[in-house]
Amino acid sequence: MSKVQKIAIMTGGGDCPGLNPVIRAVVKTAISKYGLEVMGVRHGYHGLYHGDFIKLGLEDVEEIITKGGTILYSSNKDNLFQYPVKDADGNFVRDENGKLTYEDVSDVAVEHLKAASIDALFILGGDGTLTSARDFSRKGVNVVAIPKTIDNDLANTDYTFGFDTAISVATDGLDRVRTTGMSHHRVMVVEIMGRGAGWLTLHAGIAGAADVILVPEIPYDINKVAEKIKEDKANGKEFSIVAVSEGAKSLDGKQVVLKVIEDSADSIRLGGVGALVADQLEKLTGSEARATTLGHIQRGGTPTAHDRVLSSRYGYAAVELCMKGGFGRMVALQGDEIVDVSLEDVIGQKTKNVDPNGELVTMAKAMGVCFGD
Ligand code: F6P
Repeated sequence: MSKVQKIAIMTGGGDCPGLNPVIRAVVKTAISKYGLEVMGVRHGYHGLYHGDFIKLGLEDVEEIITKGGTILYSSNKDNLFQYPVKDADGNFVRDENGKLTYEDVSDVAVEHLKAASIDALFILGGDGTLTSARDFSRKGVNVVAIPKTIDNDLANTDYTFGFDTAISVATDGLDRVRTTGMSHHRVMVVEIMGRGAGWLTLHAGIAGAADVILVPEIPYDINKVAEKIKEDKANGKEFSIVAVSEGAKSLDGKQVVLKVIEDSADSIRLGGVGALVADQLEKLTGSEARATTLGHIQRGGTPTAHDRVLSSRYGYAAVELCMKGGFGRMVALQGDEIVDVSLEDVIGQKTKNVDPNGELVTMAKAMGVCFGD
């Protein structure tokens, strides 16, 4: 049995609907069932580096189950194992080629945890955050990990919380542009998040009855997409709905990059493919086309009931795992069961991607959806 008396919880990476319900479940279970002391680390790894800890009581998690974002704040820039060096004025120190220089500052975080007598650290995050979680575990920190991402691309877990909410928002987006498409006989292109994984676009595209679904896993030929739209038009369908992943790749394998954030662990921010596809389709089909980028509204707002339940299950299971001494592990959903897996088996694995020959793609194609291949 573990001798855990005091735990800390932190959220890292992009915010995601369901983080607050997880925090609530951890705090309630830890205090009510086990009488533990609970601390919150604010601003993700940034706060861990600076010892920004607050005490969390039952009163702090009242009324947060409906709230999006994270009451603990987050950061997706602070990899403490590869931390950009800054000078006394706060400017980045660069090498002779102008590249950032880095240092490992993880020991500072470990010292803060020791000084605060924290026995176990609960880390909520996606692959970037959990890579550091694995590395802190390797350094001897008692880590319990909880998977988070709207992209649903983490290996070894079937679903992450936030995904269901994001699907609902993206589907609503597709439903809403439909009316303009119908009224104006337009091609409506909707750009959906997901980084290199097409799950969000695939699910929303099916739910939102898109005519075309473009995902990173299936490189698209814009001419084939245009042919499909012209064919539909010839058959009397006067408008088209195109759901496109921000990470969709044309046949040359290129993605459209919005910007590069130099000091972010995952520096590439995708964006812009929706506008590009709309422009190309307008030229190729002769139909007016418009692009909408859903962006961060997919990550915002109230989590769905499904995500609240999944988050609560993850939070509860994480405390149980901790009390059994299951450190260096991540709670996961496999089938309908919450299990736990070693972080070593999660990190460094290929991300979970859409199977171009899988059931959902096959079904959608049978129903006439074009994937541009
Ligand atoms: O990983 C979640 C996610 O929302 C991706 O779908 C998206 O590409 C990225 O984060 C956006 O990151 P940021 O919030 O830094 O713009």
